[in-house]
Amino acid sequence: MAKIIGGLTTSHVPAIGGAIARGSQQDAYWKPFFDGFLPVRAWLDEVKPDVAVLFHNDHGLNFFLDKMPTFAVGAAPEYSNADEGWGIPTLPPFQGIPELSWHIIEHLVDKEFDVTTCQEMLIDHAVTLPLKLFWPEGTCPVQIVPVCINTVQFPLPSAKRCLALGKAVGEAISSWQGAQRVIVIGSGGLSHQLDGTRAGFINKPFDLKFMDSLVSEPEWATQFTIPELVEKTGTQGIELLMWLATRGAVPGRVRKVHANYHIPISNTAAGMMALEPI
Ligand code: DHB
Ligand code: FE
Repeated sequence: MAKIIGGLTTSHVPAIGGAIARGSQQDAYWKPFFDGFLPVRAWLDEVKPDVAVLFHNDHGLNFFLDKMPTFAVGAAPEYSNADEGWGIPTLPPFQGIPELSWHIIEHLVDKEFDVTTCQEMLIDHAVTLPLKLFWPEGTCPVQIVPVCINTVQFPLPSAKRCLALGKAVGEAISSWQGAQRVIVIGSGGLSHQLDGTRAGFINKPFDLKFMDSLVSEPEWATQFTIPELVEKTGTQGIELLMWLATRGAVPGRVRKVHANYHIPISNTAAGMMALEPI
């Protein structure tokens, strides 16, 4: 049986891709952000996952405002990177694992999550940046299953629904007959707003409470409606739904392997966490 070895979450500000391409990781602006990943990379070297199931939001690459699935699961043999104009170098395709994708899809539909199935799916910075941050060297060592949650076009799925989606994905992984070691990744957040009168809005107290709640009380954020979460975290801060889904997928109680929180990167509160089941 496959084994869930933990959950990783990180912000995915596109400027990170530029910093990686320029080799600016040790510049004063970037160091507190990139150094946060070092202990997690050491942990990943020990636990050695084979597969990453990655919750993310598409930023207009696959789905635009005319057609917007609430939940979409990739079931492709490989995923090509094409970004939406941030100027990050395009990376070679990432390898999929369609058999596991279909197993997850079948379990989700059985549990009444009516997902869109994508036998082709392009990937943007929300998928490539976490993979590059956690595995910066060489070819990515994990096969991926991208799971997309709409945070772009209202109505959005509730926090409660995203936690439940994560739980169902976790059950699917744990019932997969393969022997893979699976890491779950949540890409997005934390508090940020890119446009409008609140552009640059960051809510550090809320972010820190939210990060703590993922360890001690995963349901905490489900008390808030989507408009309340947008008010507390910004229009793009709602990407924290990926963190909730990730926590939902990791079974039982968890321990924090490492966490980092640094503000700002671009307009965004850059958070990162690694959790493992205890
Ligand atoms: C930024 C953050 C995002 O999550 C994103 O998708 C695009 C830009 C930013 O802070 O610049
Ligand atoms: Fe984003």
